[in-house]
Amino acid sequence: MKQKDWFTDWFNTPYYHILYKDRNDEDAQLFMKNITSFLKIPTNNHILDLPCGKGRHAVFLNSLGYKVTGGDLAENSIKKAKILENENLKFKVHDMRQPLNKQYDAVFNLFTSFGYFEEDKEDILILQNIKNGLKKGGYFVFDFLNANFVKANLIAKETKIVENITFKITREITNGFIIKNISFFADGKNHNYTEKVKYLDLKKMKAYLEKVGFNITFMFGDYNLNNFDIKKSNRLILVAK
Ligand SMILES: C[S@@+](CC[C@H](N)C(=O)[O-])C[C@H]1O[C@@H](n2cnc3c(N)ncnc32)[C@H](O)[C@@H]1O
Repeated sequence: MKQKDWFTDWFNTPYYHILYKDRNDEDAQLFMKNITSFLKIPTNNHILDLPCGKGRHAVFLNSLGYKVTGGDLAENSIKKAKILENENLKFKVHDMRQPLNKQYDAVFNLFTSFGYFEEDKEDILILQNIKNGLKKGGYFVFDFLNANFVKANLIAKETKIVENITFKITREITNGFIIKNISFFADGKNHNYTEKVKYLDLKKMKAYLEKVGFNITFMFGDYNLNNFDIKKSNRLILVAK
């Protein structure tokens, strides 16, 4: 039997949200403000945030005046996001391996929401789905980790205590994946989860995008939209059309 994909379970647990509860909303908002004004995306545009998690970028984009749809595989996240819906802000459960059933003015894939799958063909399928879901001339904003920076600065072992849960975290790069093991005791039992993100550097990302016919128009290395520096940048942000 095929093993269940790690991302289906982990992202849907309450523990994922506890561990990352300090995930920086300020950074998310700064990035959204910077990128939408840099790209001059008109406020009547419809943006797809895929995957949106609990909607932190989507909600902010909507507050800037955009019509926004957020999609994510995690039902629990979408349930929470739905509470914030309005006429121009909608959320739905969506697996990005499935085709999009309409076209958007822009599609955003934010905060390392890619590279979860074993096979390159699944990564490419997602990019193809995104491309098909974009109107002509629409922007794809692709915000991924800088694999070279991660490799050079890898913290192999770490302990984090959040809401009285002690998360023991180990990290390694093996067989082309950046692997994070997370173990902790909570609600009367031991838990073990693994986050597994493909080691995709600039060269590979470029090759993926080109393969589906995207043209890279801009490249940045952080949420302030500074230039990408392979050694120093913590993000690899590609904008494609
Ligand atoms: C690192 S989180 C980032 C979420 C959001 N962009 C943010 O910044 O808060 C990655 C998200 O990808 C979602 N995800 C994983 N695999 C997916 C898939 N096949 N289709 C849609 N969403 C998926 C997870 O449920 C999770 O919410």
